[in-house]
Amino acid sequence: MFGKREAFGNAGPKTVAPPSSRPPERPSAPATPAPRAATPPPPVEAPLQRRKSEEYYDTKSSIFSALIETIDLSQLSKLDLETAREEIRDIVNEIIAINNVVMSISEQEELLDDICNDVLGYGPLEPLLARDDIADIMVNGADATFIEVGGKMIKTNVRFRDNLQLMNICQRIVSQVGRRVDEASPICDARLPDGSRVNVIAPLLAIDGPSLTIRKFKKDKLTLPQLVRFGTITPEGATILEIIGRCRCNVIVSGGTGSGKTTLLNCLTAYIEPTERIITCEDAAELQLQQPHVVRLETRPPNLEGEGQITMRDLVKNCLRMRPERIIVGEVRGPEAFDLLQAMNTGHDGSMGTLHANSPREAIGRIESMISMGGFTLPAKTVREMIVASVDVIVQAARLRDGSRRITHITEVVGLEGDVVITQDLFVYDIVGEDADGKLIGRHRSTGIGRPKFWDRARYYGDDQRLAAALDAAEMPATS
Ligand SMILES: Nc1ncnc2c1ncn2[C@@H]1O[C@H](COP(=O)(O)OP(=O)(O)OP(=O)(O)O)[C@@H](O)[C@H]1O
Ligand SMILES: [Mg+2]
Repeated sequence: MFGKREAFGNAGPKTVAPPSSRPPERPSAPATPAPRAATPPPPVEAPLQRRKSEEYYDTKSSIFSALIETIDLSQLSKLDLETAREEIRDIVNEIIAINNVVMSISEQEELLDDICNDVLGYGPLEPLLARDDIADIMVNGADATFIEVGGKMIKTNVRFRDNLQLMNICQRIVSQVGRRVDEASPICDARLPDGSRVNVIAPLLAIDGPSLTIRKFKKDKLTLPQLVRFGTITPEGATILEIIGRCRCNVIVSGGTGSGKTTLLNCLTAYIEPTERIITCEDAAELQLQQPHVVRLETRPPNLEGEGQITMRDLVKNCLRMRPERIIVGEVRGPEAFDLLQAMNTGHDGSMGTLHANSPREAIGRIESMISMGGFTLPAKTVREMIVASVDVIVQAARLRDGSRRITHITEVVGLEGDVVITQDLFVYDIVGEDADGKLIGRHRSTGIGRPKFWDRARYYGDDQRLAAALDAAEMPATS
C-alpha cells in the first residue's frame, strides 16, 4: 500500500480498547475535508446535545497512534485527498481487525471520518468548518469549543485529544500563510484557504491552552434585502442606506466586535455605480464588491524577522496615487484615519470605512483619538473641522443582548458649534420591550428630519423623492 510503512504487520497496536458504548452519531461531517461548501449544514441543536463517550476518544486515540506509527505521512501528503482517504481507510480497518475492536459499520465510518479529519484536515474542527450557519468558532484549549450560531454563543461537544493536537492544528493553519506560532511568536493572524479569518494565541500567553478564533468566511454575503428580512433594518431604512451608498456620501460604519460592520459596509458598496474605480484596503480581504473596476489591497504583517510590514496607513496613502474614485477601508484602527479623512475631503466622495465604537458620537471621538495617536500634532479643533468636512454619515451597527443584530442609528455629521461636532440622527432604533422568550422588541423610526444634509446630493443623483418618501413613511413619535 502506498504511504504505508513496511513494518506494519509487526508495529500494529498491542491493545486497542473496544468502545463499551455506542459512540453517538456526530454532525454530518464531510466525506473528505474538501470541498466544504458541498455539505449541507446540519440542524443547529441536535449535534450539540450529544457528547461522545470517553471510551470513544480512548479507542480513537489508540487507533490513531497505531495509524501514525504505520503510515508514512510524507508519502500520504503527496496523494490526492480521495486516495489518501482510501489509504487511511484500509489501514484503520486493518488495525480494527487485528485488535478485534467491536464496532458497527456506522461507528467505524464515524471513526474513520474523525481520523481522516485529524490526518488530512483540521481535525475536530472540520465538522464546524463544513457548516455554513456558523459565524464564529472559538476554541479555548482542547476541551472547550464554542460557536456563534444565529447570534447566540453555544458550547459544542467538539473536543481535541489534548492541547498538543490543538497546537498542531493551529500550526497547520498558520503555516499555510507562511507563518509560525510557538512560544517564541505566540500571537498569529492567518487565513484559511476558504477566506476565513483566524487568530491564534498560544501558551504561555493563553493560560488554559491554545486559543483559536475563526471568523467564518461567508461566500454568499448578506445583502440589504436580507438584512431587511432579518429585521436588522426596515425597508425604509434600507432605502435610505441605498441612497447614501449611491449618492456618494462619505460613510463611517461604526459598531462593536461582530456587530455586522463589515457586512453592512459590503451591503453599502452594492449601490456603487459599476463605472466607478474603487480601491479597497483590508487587513484580510473580506469585502466582496460586485463592480468590475475594483482593486483589492491587503496589509502585510511583518515576517519572522520582524521586517516587511505594510500597514493600513501605507496602503491608504498609496491608494491616493492610484487614481481612485472611492476608497473603502475594511477597518480603520489607527493613523490611517487621517489619510482616509484626507481622501474623503479631496475629491474621493463616497469613500467608506468601519471602526469600532458603540455610538455615532463615540465614533467621532475614536477618529479624533486615532489621529492624535498617529503623532499628528494638530489642535483638537482642526481635527474636528476635518471630521466635519469629511464624514457625511455614520451608520451604527449593534449586536443586541438577545443576539440579534440591528442598525441602531443613521446619523449625519452636520457641523461644528464652537468646539463641538454637531450630529443629527435621521433614523434610529428604539427598544420598547422584551417578549416571553427574551427576544427584544423594538422599532425603527425616522426622527422627523425631512431634509437631511445630503439632500442636495440625493437630488443631484435623482433620488430626492425616494429619500423624502422613505423618511416620511418611517416617521413616528419617539417613545419616552
Ligand atoms: N444583520 C445581520 N444578521 C445576521 N447575521 C449577521 C448580520 N450582520 C452580520 N451577520 C453575521 O455576523 C457575523 C459577523 O459579521 P461581520 O463580520 O460583518 O461583523 P464585524 O462587526 O465586521 O466583526 P469584526 O468586529 O470581527 O470585524 C458574520 O458571520 C455575518 O454573516
Ligand atoms: Mg469586520
